[in-house]
Amino acid sequence: MLSWLKQHFKHTTTAVDAAAQTPVADPALTADALAVATASGDVFLPAAYAKVLQHFTDAVLPQPLSALLLAVQYRAPATDMAGHCHQDNAQSATEWLHLTLPIAAASIKPALLTALQAVGFVGDLQLDYQDPAPRRHRTLRHIVLVASGKGGVGKSTTAVNLALALSQQGAKVGLLDADIYGPSVPTLLGLTAHKASSPDEKHIHPAEAFGLAVQSIGFLVDPANATVWRGPMASQALLQLLNETLWPELDILVVDMPPGTGDIQLTMAQKLPVSGAVIVTTPQDVALCDAQKAIHMFRQVNIPVLGLVENMSFYQCPACGHADHIFGCDGGSELAQRHGVAVLAQLPLLADIRQRSDAGQPIALDLNNITDPAHDSVHPVAALYQSIAIQLLNTLYYQTVQAPLATTAVVFTDD
Ligand SMILES: Nc1ncnc2c1ncn2[C@@H]1O[C@H](COP(=O)(O)OP(=O)(O)O)[C@@H](O)[C@H]1O
Ligand SMILES: [Mg+2]
Repeated sequence: MLSWLKQHFKHTTTAVDAAAQTPVADPALTADALAVATASGDVFLPAAYAKVLQHFTDAVLPQPLSALLLAVQYRAPATDMAGHCHQDNAQSATEWLHLTLPIAAASIKPALLTALQAVGFVGDLQLDYQDPAPRRHRTLRHIVLVASGKGGVGKSTTAVNLALALSQQGAKVGLLDADIYGPSVPTLLGLTAHKASSPDEKHIHPAEAFGLAVQSIGFLVDPANATVWRGPMASQALLQLLNETLWPELDILVVDMPPGTGDIQLTMAQKLPVSGAVIVTTPQDVALCDAQKAIHMFRQVNIPVLGLVENMSFYQCPACGHADHIFGCDGGSELAQRHGVAVLAQLPLLADIRQRSDAGQPIALDLNNITDPAHDSVHPVAALYQSIAIQLLNTLYYQTVQAPLATTAVVFTDD
C-alpha cells in the first residue's frame, strides 16, 4: 500500500509556517507509518491516517484537505515494552493530531474525526488556522464592509450574525458598528451597558461579546447627537474610531456601515484597505435600486463586491410552512445575476431573528458547537449564516492565494 501511496499521492502543498513541527520518531511506528515531510523535518503518521488526510474533501473547503495542509503535528500514543497502547488519563500518553490550515474551517472537524476514528485514531484532533493573507491594516488582515443602499433592510442583523458565524469557523473576528445614524450593535450583542474606556486618552479598548472584539459609535456618542453630523465630519469620526481602537490581531474585521452611498460610504471605502463588501438588500424594488447604487459605488472605487445577501426574502408560515414572498420574489438574485455578483443567501423573514436580535442573543449562536458531531439543535437560519461565512472565507482565501505567497513544501512520502 505504501508504494501505491507513494505513486499516487506524492502531493505538494504550500506552507507558510511549519516552524512548530515536532517530528515523532518512534521506531515502532515507522514500520507502517508514512512520513510527512515538512519544512522542519519529517512527521511520521500511521499510513492509514495519512491516507485519510490525502483523500479528505468537504464542501466547506475550497480544495481537498491535502492541498491545504500547512503543517502536521502528530503524537503517537505511548506504548509499553510489548507494544500495547496506553490510553490512560495521563496527558503524555494521549494520541493527538494537530493540523494547520490556511482557511478557517472548524466545521470539517466532525467528518474528519469520524474518518480518522474509522481507521483506529482514538486521540484528540486539533484544527488550527493560519490565514496566509498579509495584514492590510495594522493588526487586521481583512476589512469586510457590510453595506446596503437603504436602512432597515437587516444590515446590522446580517453583520452581527455573519461575524459570529465566521468566528465559529475558527477565524479571529471583530465587529465595528459604523452606523452613525442608528448604531444597533450594542443591543444586538447585549452590550447596551458597555462604556468605552481608554488606557491613554488616545486609544479605545474594544468590548468583547461571544468571542468578538466589538467597537461601536454607540459606545462613545449619543446617537441623537451623531445624526446631525455632516458627511465629512462623520466619515472622519468613523475612520478615527477604527484607527484608534486597540484591536487585537484579527483575521477579519466586519464593518456594519451606515446605509446609503454618499460621502461617508465613499470616504470609508477609499481610505481603508478594504478586502471587499457584502451588500444586504430586501427583494423590494426600492431596496434593490439602492443596492444597485451600492454595487456601482464599490466597483467605482475598486472594492470587490463579495456577494449579496437577500434578507427578508420570504415569510414562511410557522403553522403550515407556506412561503409567502411579501417583498417580491427573487429580486435580489436577479440583481446579483445582472451584475455578476454571488447571492450568498436568501434569508427568511422570521420572528425568531428579530426576537433573538432584540434579546442580544443573535440567532447564529444556535450553531455554537459546530465542532461537536452531536449538534442536532441547529437553527436552520444559523446554518444559513454559516453558509454565508463559508462562502466569504473561500472568496477571501482565493483573493489571497491569487497573490503569490512565500511557500515551503509539505510533501507526503513513504521514503
Ligand atoms: N430576516 C429577518 N427576519 C425578521 N426580522 C428581521 C430580519 N432581518 C432583520 N430583522 C429586523 O428588522 C429590523 C431592522 O434590521 P436591522 O438589522 O437593524 O437593519 P439595518 O441595519 O439595515 O437598519 C430589526 O428589528 C431586525 O431585528
Ligand atoms: Mg443598522
